[in-house]
Amino acid sequence: MEVIHLLMNFLIPPIVIILILVVFPIYFLYTIVHSFIRSFTMEDMNQKVVLITGASSGIGECLAYEYAKRGARLALVARRETMLKEVAKKARAMGSPDVIISCADVANSDHCKRFVEETISHFGRLDHLVNNAGISSSFYFEEASNISNAVPVMNVNYWGSVYATHFALPHIKKTKGKIAANTSSSAWLYGPDMCMYSASKAAMMNFYETLRIELGPAVTITTVSLGFVESEMIDGKHIGLDGKVVMDLSRKDAVAHFFPILKAKESARLIVDGVCRGDRDVTDPSWLRALYLCKVFVPEILEWFMRLMFMAVVRRMESFQIKNGIQAKKDF
Ligand SMILES: NC(=O)c1ccc[n+]([C@@H]2O[C@H](COP(=O)([O-])OP(=O)(O)OC[C@H]3O[C@@H](n4cnc5c(N)ncnc54)[C@H](OP(=O)(O)O)[C@@H]3O)[C@@H](O)[C@H]2O)c1
Repeated sequence: MEVIHLLMNFLIPPIVIILILVVFPIYFLYTIVHSFIRSFTMEDMNQKVVLITGASSGIGECLAYEYAKRGARLALVARRETMLKEVAKKARAMGSPDVIISCADVANSDHCKRFVEETISHFGRLDHLVNNAGISSSFYFEEASNISNAVPVMNVNYWGSVYATHFALPHIKKTKGKIAANTSSSAWLYGPDMCMYSASKAAMMNFYETLRIELGPAVTITTVSLGFVESEMIDGKHIGLDGKVVMDLSRKDAVAHFFPILKAKESARLIVDGVCRGDRDVTDPSWLRALYLCKVFVPEILEWFMRLMFMAVVRRMESFQIKNGIQAKKDF
């Protein structure tokens, strides 16, 4: 057995490199032509049924409007009823023929079962499931005295998507529908002090990439990797050390100082275009793809750069807090 592995260690790397060199140009050309052709055969969403989790604010809210403009019927899910009602009202005004809302916590499997059942009993079908609900975390791992406080991050981001997918899948298969998973560039581009968030998004990414292989062409799965997008999350809303949701305005100041923040409306349009085209992934901004190459080929340099950025961000946050006499505001 060891001899076989020894042989493979010598043979597989050069074979793969040669294959990449030969196959990559053809593959690259194929993806360009394929994407061009698919842009003409984009799914018509008129009267189709779309379930969006985390639709009460930010990207999810804009996704609701984008689908509404295309004439889709909507099932909107989140915990804050008043905000969901507002989004539903605007979505109807933007062109959605029918919108229902469901107040639910995606971290609760029974809630996920309920909102999928409500969608099917109201509309009789489901065409797209958009797993968007999410929560961020921000603390240094070493400072956590009770690490279990971070469990909700995994429960909402990862399990919340898995539960919803589990209950929706039989209905999605009936319509040969689509699933979108709003993961994050954090799934592979690690921001220090966000290890719990990054891990939950990486779990989500791996789950959907495995599911894509398991399901084959029966269901189209689109994973979404976004950079910084305007939303409550980017305004500084996150789970802190004590497990409570806090709003830290210094985070937004620091992020906006160093990185361009994308418009949620524009990201939502790109996501819906990508899902309707049947793309396997949507990356916005697209230059993030180049950083992925760095991660594969020069990981140490990327890690060094991320640490440098991190220290600069922390310094900026500290100076913002001193200037404004604030600490993270508790109990948002
Ligand atoms: N903004 C960014 O820069 C960025 C970048 C990459 C990826 N993302 C991802 O994009 C998704 C949307 O985030 P956002 O940026 O738009 O932030 P946001 O404005 O905070 O939106 C988060 C949404 O998720 C919902 N939500 C949170 N916990 C929930 C729970 N337990 N059950 C049901 N719904 C829940 C929130 O609604 P309720 O509070 O009303 O329940 C809200 O509608 C997240 O998955 C996030 O990780 C964001």
